[in-house]
Amino acid sequence: MKYAQIAGWGMYVPSTVITNDAFVRMGLDTSEDWITSRTGIEQRFLVGLDEATSDMAVKAGLHALSMAEMHGREIDLVIVATCTPDHVMPSTAAIVQNRLGADGAGALDINAACAGFVYALNMATGQIESGRATNVLVIGADELSIYLNWKDRNTCILFGDGAGAVILKASDEPGIMSSTMGSDGSGAGLLTIPGGGSRFRTNGNGRKPANSYLTMNGPQVFRWATQMMTSAAERVIASSSLKPEEIDLFIPHQANLRIIEATAKRLGLDPEKVFANVDRYGNTSAASIPIAICEALDQGLIHVGDNIVLTSFGAGLSWAAVAVRWTAPVPERRSPWVPFRQSLETRVAAVRSVLRRQQRRVGTVIDERLRRD
Ligand code: ACO
Repeated sequence: MKYAQIAGWGMYVPSTVITNDAFVRMGLDTSEDWITSRTGIEQRFLVGLDEATSDMAVKAGLHALSMAEMHGREIDLVIVATCTPDHVMPSTAAIVQNRLGADGAGALDINAACAGFVYALNMATGQIESGRATNVLVIGADELSIYLNWKDRNTCILFGDGAGAVILKASDEPGIMSSTMGSDGSGAGLLTIPGGGSRFRTNGNGRKPANSYLTMNGPQVFRWATQMMTSAAERVIASSSLKPEEIDLFIPHQANLRIIEATAKRLGLDPEKVFANVDRYGNTSAASIPIAICEALDQGLIHVGDNIVLTSFGAGLSWAAVAVRWTAPVPERRSPWVPFRQSLETRVAAVRSVLRRQQRRVGTVIDERLRRD
């Protein structure tokens, strides 16, 4: 049997930084101290007007490919975990597949909100373990900022935008050791963006359009999140036959520092083994865990042989956890040729994409002529 091993990683955040004082300056009834003390967040990155989720996903994916020293065409499957896709259809993953030159790879989106990336890791692992795929690009990318009501102090201070990616590849040694995922749709209304789907239609059809702002019952999500993050982590720790003291790094979803600390305490983990960067990014939804993985690697917190537990929760309500044995070497620096090669490859992919569109157009014209004749 094959295992799924993390072989590459990458992240991207947009360039606009919003610090807590900006909310006070824009007249929101809040304070820097409230936001920092109740959430642990000090700043977040927000997308520009012309930056779609796929734009961020492609940049994170390119970094991951270069870390794994792989070409886009070696990827069999692209999974993008997102609840803020570019369009209702096609999938964001298909757009990413084309731009990365992952020629012919399967491509699909997964929506499990903030839990999406760990869900996607789980699905990708299944594909590799069953022998259906060899190399899978798993991306978590979200820009929840475009669904925020900037007058709602309960929600707008919490979220940031970004993308993170890993390459999972088939290997003879683990890898992903165990995983779990679950959901409880009775809590669907606790955290929701009601509009934009089939329940409330924006084009009329006799139904009232719903608002497309994110709404949340913060205290209820908070209570549920600490319980679920703990039980999901306990499940994967037990099914990997690990003891809590054998966990080298715990990487929880970065939503609120108080949730992270409460979960770590329930699990009995040494605070030094708990990774947090919510202070600098806010809650980046599906991107939060892969961004945290990249930062933990950058900070030298992950070594070959380490046992790492990832847990996440989100709208749905949904949750997922994974236990990983880290096996990929962490290179000191990349070859200087990698960015050059990648820029060449993405240009080739863009040209190929244009040629295919032209080919389809010509095919349609020829078909029409033949029909007329
Ligand atoms: N500034 C000042 N006061 C505020 C703010 C703010 N930004 N936000 C809320 N308050 C007020 C409330 O209105 C309330 O006032 P009241 O007592 O007069 O009614 C008071 O502060 C306390 O409000 P609570 O909601 O009880 O505050 P709490 O300590 O629970 O913190 C928070 C709120 C930060 C939202 C917390 O509940 C939380 O983090 N919940 C979980 C959120 C989360 O993790 N979401 C996951 C998203 S995952 C995904 O799928 C997208």
